[in-house]
Amino acid sequence: MYKVLIIGSGGREHAIVSSFLKSSRVDEVYVAPGNPGMLLGYEDYYSDKQIPVTLIDKTTIPEICSFVSDNKIEIVFVGPEQSLADGLADELENLKVSVIGPKKEGARLEASKIYAKKLMKKYGIPTADFQQFDQSAQAKEYLQQVAFPVVIKADGLAAGKGVVIANDYNQALESVEKIMEKSQFGNAGDKIIIEEFLTGWEGSIFAVTDGHNYKSTIVSQDYKKLLENDKGPNTGGMGAVAPVAKAEPHLQTIEKTVFDPLFKALANEHISYKGFLYAGLIFTDQGPKVLEFNCRLGDPEAQVILPLLDNDIIEICEAINNNSVDDLKLKWKNKYAANIVLASQGYPGKYEKGLPIEINEDIFNDPEVSVYYAGVRDNDDGLETAGGRVLSVTALAEKMPDALKKAYANIKKLSFKGQTYRKDIGINAK
Ligand code: AMP
Ligand code: GLY
Repeated sequence: MYKVLIIGSGGREHAIVSSFLKSSRVDEVYVAPGNPGMLLGYEDYYSDKQIPVTLIDKTTIPEICSFVSDNKIEIVFVGPEQSLADGLADELENLKVSVIGPKKEGARLEASKIYAKKLMKKYGIPTADFQQFDQSAQAKEYLQQVAFPVVIKADGLAAGKGVVIANDYNQALESVEKIMEKSQFGNAGDKIIIEEFLTGWEGSIFAVTDGHNYKSTIVSQDYKKLLENDKGPNTGGMGAVAPVAKAEPHLQTIEKTVFDPLFKALANEHISYKGFLYAGLIFTDQGPKVLEFNCRLGDPEAQVILPLLDNDIIEICEAINNNSVDDLKLKWKNKYAANIVLASQGYPGKYEKGLPIEINEDIFNDPEVSVYYAGVRDNDDGLETAGGRVLSVTALAEKMPDALKKAYANIKKLSFKGQTYRKDIGINAK
C-alpha cells in the first residue's frame, strides 16, 4: 500500500486526488496545499475504503522535501508547472521517492517557449513558423514586414496569459511594448516569439512517459475563452470534454509526427522525463501542429481524462517509475466525459471572494458525477469562494450529449452569488 502526496490546489489536483482514492493500492493521501473541497463528498463513493485525505500547509520546495522524508511518502504527483520548473522533482529525486513530473530540464518544454520551438524545429515536429526576439526594437521592426494576424508569446511562464493574437500592426506593437518594455508578465516577457497564426480546431493529448517509451491518451478539448462562441478573454479553461471523436483519425499521425520525434529529441538531448507530457494541438488543413507543450496534466482536461481512465493510477505511476511504460496498456471506459467550470463574477479580471457556496448534497449520489473544487476555502458554515475558477462538475455518460446534459443538470446543484459558466461547452463535440 502506498502513501501518496499530491502537489497543487486546483480542480486538476482534486481529480488526481480522486484517482488515488479509487486505487486499491493506496492507504494515505496527502495534498500540499490542496483545498478543503477535496475533503467533501467522498463518504458514499469510497465507504468501503475510507482512505484518509490530509491537507498539509507546505508550499516551498524545502518544506515539501522535509514532509516527504519525515512521513515516508512513496509517490509525489506534481500538478502545477511552476513547482516543476522550479526544480521540485530534482530535489525529490535525491530522496529516492517516485515523482510523477519531470525535472527542471524537462519542464523547460513548458517554461521556455523558445526552447520548445527550437527543439520542434530541430527535430521536424510540425508547428507554426516563428522568430524569437530579446530586444523590443527588433521585434517592432519585424512587425513591419509580417502578415496579420500574428501570435505574440512571452517566452516564460505567465499562468496561461502570455499569448496574444494581434489582428493588426498597432495591436501587435502595443503587445510587444506591454510584454517587453512594461514587463506585463515580469521576466517571463524578457524574450518573446512572434509566430504565424494557424487556423483549425484545437485539442489536447497527453503522453504518459518514463523517458524511454510513451503511451498516448485519448484527445480532449478545453474551452479557454470566458464566453460562449469562444468570445471574451482567455481563461485557465471554462470546461472540457473527452474523448473528441473527430480527433480519432489523427491519432497515428500525432504519434508519428509529434510524440515519436519528441521522445527521440529528449533522448538525444539527454533529458530524462517522467510523468505526463501535454501537447496542445491545432488540427489544420495540413494536419495536426503543435501549439505548445506543457509538462503536466491540463486543467480542466485532467477532470475529463482521469475519470475515464480505467487503470489503477498506481499501475501508471509504477510504469513511469520502473521504466516499464512500454508494457503499460492504458484502458479507457467506453464513455464520454463533460466538465463545466463555475467561475466567480469578474474572472479572469477582478472578482469578489468569500461568497458562501451552497451545495445540494444530492450531487454526491451519482457515481458518474464528480465535483472538483478549486478556488474555495472554509468558513464557519461550509465552503466559500476564494478564487476565479471556483469548482467544476464532470459527468460521464454513454454518449457525449448525455454527458453534457448531466453535467449541466448537476451544476445547478451548486451555487454562489454571481457564479458564471459557459452554456456551450461541447457544442461542437456532439
Ligand atoms: P498556447 O499557450 O501557446 O497554447 O496558446 C494559447 C492559445 O492561443 C491557444 O490555445 C490558441 O487558441 C492560441 N494560439 C497559440 N498559438 C497560436 C497560433 N500559432 N495560431 C493560432 N492560435 C494560436
Ligand atoms: N487547459 C490548458 C492548460 O492546462 O494548460
